[in-house]
Amino acid sequence: MKVIAAVLLCLLIIRTAHGQYVSCTNPNQRTGYCVNIPLCVPLNSVLAKSNPTDSEMRFIRESRCLVSDQSDLPFVCCTPDTDYNTTRARPNDEVIHSTLLPDRSICGGDIAYNQITKGNETVLTEFAWMVLLEYRPHDGQQLRTYCAGSLINNRYVVTAAHCVSAATRARKGDVVSVRLGEHNTSAVVDCLNGRCLPEPVQIAVEEIRIHESFGTRLFWNDIALIRLAREVAYSPSIRPVCLPSTVGLQNWQSGQAFTVAGWGRTLTSESSPVKMKLRVTYVEPGLCRRKYASIVVLGDSHLCAEGRSRGDSCDGDSGGPLMAFHEGVWVLGGIVSFGLNCGSRFWPAVYTNVLSYETWITQNIRP
Ligand SMILES: *[C@@H]1O[C@H](CO)[C@@H](O)[C@H](O)[C@H]1NC(C)=O
Ligand SMILES: *[C@@H]1O[C@H](CO)[C@@H](O)[C@H](O)[C@H]1NC(C)=O
Ligand SMILES: *[C@@H]1O[C@H](CO)[C@@H](O)[C@H](O)[C@H]1NC(C)=O
Repeated sequence: MKVIAAVLLCLLIIRTAHGQYVSCTNPNQRTGYCVNIPLCVPLNSVLAKSNPTDSEMRFIRESRCLVSDQSDLPFVCCTPDTDYNTTRARPNDEVIHSTLLPDRSICGGDIAYNQITKGNETVLTEFAWMVLLEYRPHDGQQLRTYCAGSLINNRYVVTAAHCVSAATRARKGDVVSVRLGEHNTSAVVDCLNGRCLPEPVQIAVEEIRIHESFGTRLFWNDIALIRLAREVAYSPSIRPVCLPSTVGLQNWQSGQAFTVAGWGRTLTSESSPVKMKLRVTYVEPGLCRRKYASIVVLGDSHLCAEGRSRGDSCDGDSGGPLMAFHEGVWVLGGIVSFGLNCGSRFWPAVYTNVLSYETWITQNIRP
């Protein structure tokens, strides 16, 4: 009887799930999704404050959902609200830019954010939207990885067009699958302090859409969408990143800090088995344009950023994400496109500016 009830409950959960989460209503009667509290950035950031108010704590308690003894972490009904009758939401947040894209209660959250991290190595589950693209070489069965991408919903990965172009596929092989939930490519299972992640998930590629104007001008429109053969189940190590419009971002300000992360894979080199990260800063477009003027023409659809020391996006992977942490969530700001003299502090790395392609993205995804 218990088993039947459990199966029924599971079916019920799966049916009502959006992506992988069950919908619920919070104490402000707002609809959200029932998730483990560390995955709920707005409420988790209240807990992380040194002095949450009684009202905030009561709000969190009353936000509990799906009470279960399976997990030591409580589930809460996650919305942008952090207190009774108040929302952190700006008017812009309420704009639903595409019903296919996750809202900020689902995307861009990072359990690792509140942990102290030293150096460049990422902690397990950090940047859980990062995927590796798997190529099948023409002469072998063993899959190889050269590029990365970012999961933007439960069906699509955004990457650089140059990673999946016909020219690249002719040289490197077809992109047949993506690997999600990866941390250390040398380890079968990733563990830290006795906690282990599930094994990475491999999903076949159903379709690749390269920007129509890629290739017409050198290094322009370096963006592509990969549609996965099936929907991805979100988990602590597999989550989507937010797009800028999800948090109402419309432009980049001077001084904007970004994080670029990856395994250091490019079409020609490979550097680290473990996902690494590096902080970089926005470079004024005019400055970047002048710097590159003798080599390539750059425009508003490019975004330049540089690190304080060598490293640059050589620590990222072609096609991987340049991310901004904005109002509690990670936003996909750029896609690693190219850089000259990788590692030289005198040449900022150039990224595809995701702000310029949000319309293209929403027009090219389907359920
Ligand atoms: C929220 O607002 C409604 C209507 O303004 C009010 O009746 C209710 O008591 C408020 N809830 C809390 C917990 O303050
Ligand atoms: C971070 O990366 C840079 C450049 O790759 C390297 O020089 C530095 O030693 C790294 N720092 C740590 C703490 O690993
Ligand atoms: C990655 O995995 C390999 C194989 O298990 C292990 O030897 C290595 O220490 C790991 N690297 C890190 C940084 O955890």
